[in-house]
Amino acid sequence: MESPFKADTVKGKVGLITGGGSGIGFEITKEFGKHGASVAIMGRRKSVLDSAVSSLRCLGIQAIGFVGDVRKNEDATRVVDETFQHFGRIDILVNAAAGNFLVPAEDLSPNGFKTVMDIDTVGTFRMCHEALKYIKKGGLGREGTSGGGTILNISATLHYSATWYQIHVSAAKAAIDAMTRSLALEWGTDYDIRVNGIAPGPINDTPGLSKLDPHEIQSGAPVHRFISGEKWDIAMAALYLASDAGKHINGTILVVDGGDWFNRASH
Ligand code: HXC
Repeated sequence: MESPFKADTVKGKVGLITGGGSGIGFEITKEFGKHGASVAIMGRRKSVLDSAVSSLRCLGIQAIGFVGDVRKNEDATRVVDETFQHFGRIDILVNAAAGNFLVPAEDLSPNGFKTVMDIDTVGTFRMCHEALKYIKKGGLGREGTSGGGTILNISATLHYSATWYQIHVSAAKAAIDAMTRSLALEWGTDYDIRVNGIAPGPINDTPGLSKLDPHEIQSGAPVHRFISGEKWDIAMAALYLASDAGKHINGTILVVDGGDWFNRASH
């Protein structure tokens, strides 16, 4: 689908996207690039990053990939520094890296719980914390535009009610939403950095949906027909929040789910 935004919506900005090599993270990266940003992507698998970077470059996008695990302090420091060295600024950080598997709470080991918290929640905090020194210098500050950089944290709607076999991910995403508001308060006030979240509902063609979808049918849980969206829907929300169109939005979690979660809750 064609973007309703102008091609220069985020022109001149530099975005660092964790989990940017695949899924929702890649779609956000691609749309940022198509609307004028330079992009760095961080992920664990070199082959995934390499193919993502080459398809971005084929679209004429200035892109670079850095191998790294958001669970490691040294990787976070290195990737943030290398992004700054390569592009000379960081204006936008998107935390899209996430871990997920379906498991009944009874069968989930504390280490399995901790693993997802480490990737999603602590990983998000770690990247925000590392990138702050550059993002607070960032932002284009053009006349009449937002001066500071911006952070987008991708969460979910799983925790708005309760979701079968997702105790660890629900806890991790709820914590991300809380962190988004705390950082929006502190860094919005101190540095003019806007920190917002996006809570996608079920999104077609992503690992999240392919894991959940068949499960809900087989588990004995009440069958619910998902209202599912496209990765493009999330990328458009990200573009809006990261651009000057969103310059007065701070500390918001934008639900992008076509009404799925309250539809589920009402059954
Ligand atoms: C139960 C599991 C498990 C599983 C791992 N563990 N997979 N427990 N069922 N399927 C437990 C292990 O037993 C271990 O605990 C601990 O977790 C660490 O496992 P490792 O395999 O050593 O960890 P690692 O190799 O680092 O892999 C972690 C991973 C990751 C979380 C499984 O590889 C991963 O997330 N892969 C999938 C990525 C993905 O699907 N991303 C999309 C996210 S979608 P013990 O106690 O044995 O040591 C999303 C949106 C949700 O987030 C919303 C949907 C609508």
